[in-house]
Amino acid sequence: MSGGTAPRFPRLLVTGGAGFIGSCFVRDVLARKDGTHITVLDKMTYAGNRANLAPAEADPEQAARLLFVVGDIADASVVAPLASEVDAIVNFAAESHVDRSILDPEAFLRTDVMGVHVLLEAARAEAERARRGERAGAPRMLQVSTDEVYGSVETGESREGDLLEPRSPYSAAKAAGELLVRSYFVTYGMDVVVTRGSNTYGPYHHPEKLIPLFITNAMDDQQLPLYGDGLQRRDWLYVADHAGAIGHVLAHGVAGETYNVPGDNERTNRDVVTALLDDLGKPWSLVRQVEDRPGHDRRYAMDGTRLAALGWTNRMPFERGLAATVEWYRANQDWWRAIKSGEWTDYYQRQYGARLAGSREAGR
Ligand code: NAD
Ligand code: TYD
Repeated sequence: MSGGTAPRFPRLLVTGGAGFIGSCFVRDVLARKDGTHITVLDKMTYAGNRANLAPAEADPEQAARLLFVVGDIADASVVAPLASEVDAIVNFAAESHVDRSILDPEAFLRTDVMGVHVLLEAARAEAERARRGERAGAPRMLQVSTDEVYGSVETGESREGDLLEPRSPYSAAKAAGELLVRSYFVTYGMDVVVTRGSNTYGPYHHPEKLIPLFITNAMDDQQLPLYGDGLQRRDWLYVADHAGAIGHVLAHGVAGETYNVPGDNERTNRDVVTALLDDLGKPWSLVRQVEDRPGHDRRYAMDGTRLAALGWTNRMPFERGLAATVEWYRANQDWWRAIKSGEWTDYYQRQYGARLAGSREAGR
């Protein structure tokens, strides 16, 4: 062990650790060099990418503390033995894209609901083993959830105790997953915590999402499909801040509690697109107004008092984070060009073919 204080959970199972936020968490925890060992369990769907862990795997000391397992969180035979060897489970694994949930909801139920159930059952079996004295303590489980479970928030800010009113198959599945987690605290007394993060952006973000899609399309002078009037509002959170907040809740969160993780950077989609085009030096004329997403949530916004009271503060202001993100996509074209091929071409056609064909000038 060479840096930092001894971790509360020295052995972690990080599910979905080859995705966008999970891989940032893994890279950042391993880079702390505090002796933490991480097993990543990832199904390697279209969103999983081993290259996201390359910086950790390139460092022999970090690579020695990382075990990579390809497998499904909904498969109990894979999950149970892995759970028996860790002190905590951090569940990032999910189908995560709203538009894909509208095209094909079933995968969302399998992973975001049944997958969570399988993880909880594995953790519960370990808690039983701890009660019988067969292991040192019960594992903690942190469920990574989303602000989208609150539904569209026209005014004000969602608090953790507010009603959950999800409106897309994605957010409904995420709500079901986190409610299961909560039920295991109430019913079985398990050590669980939930985080609800806001819209996250930064390096290694899959180009299906707004910011990386528009950056990479604009770099190639391709059209930018803005849904509806573009006045929907999102609260943007830099990925390292999101991953850091999750680590903070894992270490300090109260069992059974839920913590909002806001970015405190609320912007309309038009504002975001204007800023990224400025950073890229590309014209607004690339932006096309296309048919809106069905059931499109108008706004998300959360109150972050509970997380602040736990001692967490975000570090990255939006303008600096966006500029760093644009720079990363400029410098890592091999990474995103490899993703924008194969399966991507079919998806893009399905999602945007008719929309772009029927699009019009977005007007500034
Ligand atoms: P992502 O789509 O980039 O990554 C998801 C990862 O999970 C991928 O590596 C994928 O291969 C893996 N995966 C999918 N199904 C799996 C399964 N059945 N078993 C094992 N692995 C599986 O997603 P992300 O943006 O990194 O989001 C991570 C988590 O954070 C998700 O739970 C998401 O709901 C939540 N979240 C995301 C955001 C955001 O803005 N991206 C905001 C708030 C919360
Ligand atoms: P997205 O990145 O899909 O995140 P979420 O739906 O989880 O908030 O979208 C962010 C916002 O950008 C959302 O209001 C939808 C909008 N959007 C577009 O206008 N065009 C696009 O091509 C995409 C992917 C998103």
